Amino acid sequence: GAPVEVNISKIATGQLVRTNYRGKPVYIVRRGQDVIDALGGHEDQLSDPQSDEAQQPEYAQNQYRSINPEYLVAEGVCTHLGCAPSYKKGDFAEQVEGVDYGFFCPCHGSKFDMAGRVFSGVPAPLNLVVPKHSFLDDNTLIIG
Ligand code: FES
Repeated sequence: GAPVEVNISKIATGQLVRTNYRGKPVYIVRRGQDVIDALGGHEDQLSDPQSDEAQQPEYAQNQYRSINPEYLVAEGVCTHLGCAPSYKKGDFAEQVEGVDYGFFCPCHGSKFDMAGRVFSGVPAPLNLVVPKHSFLDDNTLIIG
């Protein structure tokens, strides 16, 4: 499919924006510094903290799973059976104690952190897929 261009200039910190790429929903979240800093705090609770088994471009195989730590770009497709995980902003602690932000899949309860990394003990086997992406300039994200 053709690359998708997204204007990110109006995305507020903490906001999630949805788009589509190759027929799949893609979530773009602008992560605040608190969220970025918290990514290192729960790695012992993740199935694959280094994303060794996960699908992402090489440049996104890092703790942030992105090029620019401020932006998460991930398919909004649960790696269990494909439901759309819900973005929990500040109320994720109901799912994982001490972790305030993340994604919760309403279908069978899988939980993902703000880098799309799956928590242990849930049905989803893998971290969310990170599609190929790049930044054309400060305001423009290219997916694909
Ligand atoms: Fe998400 Fe089953 S589809 S937990």
